[in-house]
Amino acid sequence: MKYLIKAFWLRIKAFWWVKIRRNPVVFARQLGVKVGKGCQILDDPLPVFGTEPWLITLGDNVDITAGVRFLNHEGGMWCARVLRPELKDYDLFRPIKVGNNVMVGFRSLIMPGVTIGNNVIIAGHSVVTRDVADGMVVGGVPAKPISTVERFMSNLKQEELFPTKKMNIAQKRAYLQKERPEWFAN
Ligand SMILES: CC(C)(COP(=O)(O)OP(=O)(O)OC[C@H]1O[C@@H](n2cnc3c(N)ncnc32)[C@H](O)[C@@H]1OP(=O)(O)O)[C@@H](O)C(=O)NCCC(=O)NCCS
Repeated sequence: MKYLIKAFWLRIKAFWWVKIRRNPVVFARQLGVKVGKGCQILDDPLPVFGTEPWLITLGDNVDITAGVRFLNHEGGMWCARVLRPELKDYDLFRPIKVGNNVMVGFRSLIMPGVTIGNNVIIAGHSVVTRDVADGMVVGGVPAKPISTVERFMSNLKQEELFPTKKMNIAQKRAYLQKERPEWFAN
């Protein structure tokens, strides 16, 4: 009987690992993040969504790239609790909302209370402290408008674009070796 229970428990653990823990979108939803359709999360949801994942809403087609962090509580309360002892048992939380069709760039930090609009690009290594309007490209520390997505799109040059999105890394490398041999020359 003991072995049967153990085997059953191992099967549940294996199922959880394969079906939930290894799939960042499914696992983020299990943590309480509201995740829309067609989203991609390129990191482990545990550190990405922090201690209040249930205060985070992602719209449809949101790309959370590697190293991104969401903060929903104000760490400054650590200091405030000492200076105002009547606050010693208090926390400060603010929800974060991300709209549809948003790319959150590599290692960005999204601060408490921020609302990010639709069709937005957040540059790599940004710290987003204020709301971001629809259609903007923002970046820096703190993040400020850099451009608009419309301008970003109109600056795309056809000769810099490659039809490799559905390929794996090895296929991409082979494709580029063929199309751009000068990039691989010694
Ligand atoms: C924001 C981004 C889309 C801008 O692309 P772009 O329009 O081609 O940018 P440009 O190189 O023409 O730069 C435009 C301006 O933004 C600034 N800028 C670009 N990236 C920036 C960044 N990460 N942080 C702050 N400023 C940035 C440039 O310095 C430039 O400023 P200037 O006009 O004063 O010289 C791009 O730089 C970026 O960060 N992409 C995300 C990368 C990423 O995280 N990829 C993850 C892959 S999984």
